[in-house]
Amino acid sequence: MSHIELRCPRCGKSRPADMSAEVCLDCGLPLDVAYITHDETGLAADVNAIPSPIHEPGSMVSLGEGNTPCVKLLTIGGRLPLSQLFAKLEFLNPTGSFKDRGTATMVSVAREHGVTELVEDSSGNAGASVSAYAARAGIKSHIFVPADAPEAKLRQIRAYGTEIHPIAGTREAVTSAAVAFHQQHGLVYASHMLSPYFAEGTKAFGYEVVQQFVVQQLNGAMPDHVVFPVGNGSLLIGAFQGFRELQASGIIDKIPRLHAVQARNVMPLVAAFNNETWSLADATKTVAGGISVAAPSRQWQILEILRLTAGSAVAVDESSILRMQRDLAEQEGIFAEPTSAAAFAGLEELASQGVIQESDTVLVPVTGFGLKDEPPR
Ligand SMILES: Cc1ncc(COP(=O)(O)O)c(C=O)c1O
Ligand SMILES: [Zn+2]
Repeated sequence: MSHIELRCPRCGKSRPADMSAEVCLDCGLPLDVAYITHDETGLAADVNAIPSPIHEPGSMVSLGEGNTPCVKLLTIGGRLPLSQLFAKLEFLNPTGSFKDRGTATMVSVAREHGVTELVEDSSGNAGASVSAYAARAGIKSHIFVPADAPEAKLRQIRAYGTEIHPIAGTREAVTSAAVAFHQQHGLVYASHMLSPYFAEGTKAFGYEVVQQFVVQQLNGAMPDHVVFPVGNGSLLIGAFQGFRELQASGIIDKIPRLHAVQARNVMPLVAAFNNETWSLADATKTVAGGISVAAPSRQWQILEILRLTAGSAVAVDESSILRMQRDLAEQEGIFAEPTSAAAFAGLEELASQGVIQESDTVLVPVTGFGLKDEPPR
């Protein structure tokens, strides 16, 4: 018998753990991993012992993901001004983006289930990540991507021997094509947007932050705020789940305020959180391709987390994203892709609104490496 089941974050209804990408039949929401052989409040008694959905630790497919460094940003911090601004360099993960913790867990579970061929759709980074881990696990992967995805991301996906399926049209059209393909060929749909295992793997981000800030005393205390670039919300959700488990175990006493940043050109979460009107038809192209998600499948869960942590949701202009991308490279030596720079543009907005104060400790993940999506010159 498995030690986990899949549970709806909204109504709590559960079903046995499998590899289907089905959502809750009542709420339509993607499911989470729930542990059934542990007392959930005592789940994480130790910051180094992260609960895992994998049955046999030996079956883990790993490339050494996680444990990314945190560095202090003195120049940008001085300008905003924020005296305790830290960046967690997520682009130092094996495929150059934060996706790898989630992928490692999802592909490991797939291997335990005997999966030999899978389908995924992505704006580029999740596709590259799934391609790499599938290659390592000996699983054939089909990755559906927007035909206009950055050339470097397409090259990276191809390098792992993946069968790549470029699709013209919107990001939603790419998902539809992937869904049709997996149904037609009877293949597993390993969607990072829907998979409970991807979300569960990403949780390690929260554990690492506690390890770095509390156990290793990076700054003497936990961050007061974490600011994320959010499309489908996997990093924000994963961080929250990790923090929540460590709070339930008494290892931290409070969860940081979690903030979501979106491009003004694609801002469903910002609109929903702030009661503004916005519809799919309002979406236009953005330089922040990783967060160009007009209908996030986990929207309810993301909004709930923003409310529970007294966070916020802000939209940023294209020009401020590109300016922040340049500043990060020229003033801090951090070459981030535009999607990642969007979080810093949002941080600037939150600091100027007074939501984040000068003496607050702030953490921003730098989610993807700059060479993946180079700025227009
Ligand atoms: C570099 C980068 N940052 C952030 C995100 C947003 O992640 P999520 O869609 O899980 O919110 C993505 C997603 O593709 C990404 O590629
Ligand atoms: Zn439900």
